[in-house]
Amino acid sequence: MTGRLLTFNIFRFDPQKTGDTPKMVSYTLPETDGMTIFIALNQIREHQAHDLQFDFVCRAGICGSCAMVINGKPTLGCRTLTKNFPSGVISLHPLPAFKLIGDLSVDTGTFMREMSERIENWLHEEKDAVSIDVIETRMEPELAEAIYELDRCIECGCCVAACATKAMKDTFLGAVGFMKLARFDLDPRDTRTAEDYYHVLGNEDGVFGCMSLLGCQDNCPKDLPHQTQIAYLRRKMLTA
Ligand code: SF4
Ligand code: F3S
Ligand code: FES
Repeated sequence: MTGRLLTFNIFRFDPQKTGDTPKMVSYTLPETDGMTIFIALNQIREHQAHDLQFDFVCRAGICGSCAMVINGKPTLGCRTLTKNFPSGVISLHPLPAFKLIGDLSVDTGTFMREMSERIENWLHEEKDAVSIDVIETRMEPELAEAIYELDRCIECGCCVAACATKAMKDTFLGAVGFMKLARFDLDPRDTRTAEDYYHVLGNEDGVFGCMSLLGCQDNCPKDLPHQTQIAYLRRKMLTA
């Protein structure tokens, strides 16, 4: 489809600018081979809207900073090809559930930091100090692989933006927090028990508030197994 003209309808609003109001603005540009939303937005900013705000760092699906709502779906701009939109019309909105910085840029960092502090998102080992004289704890490759599988979260915020429970209840922990706790629960080096997790997981702000809407599972760009992990944590909390 290279050569066709694409239409981008982009949410524009700068909360810092006095008198600015939210609006959708259209831009057109010719599609090129292998064009991603990242490439298109850069071209729009270079040639048509120099003040357009959006975030990108790695351009490779690793940093999580380019998440936005593309034709109604929260996903990564750098991994989304324009050729996947046969109509050639693409709408872009900032992720909901996070504070808007401007246009397509949102502050996911404050949310992720608060979530990390709330769940103590680090390994709780028996000994406090790490010693280079002690041999590392052995771990079976299969277990290390399973932990790694759950540890692939890039903190993009798509699962939070796609969750209606989170939209209705600001204090809801959200799927990203559940996934991180599931990862530590699997890790034998972490000394925390189900009882230790109970105050963050075993209530309406935790897994019992989740309405199993599965927007997290459907929209996680890293295909993390939210459905099975939430079910697992729920069972665990019932027996805590
Ligand atoms: Fe993004 Fe998936 Fe991590 Fe949620 S769990 S923040 S959707 S990578
Ligand atoms: Fe939200 Fe996922 Fe539960 S979308 S309601 S956290 S299943
Ligand atoms: Fe890093 Fe898209 S720019 S994930």
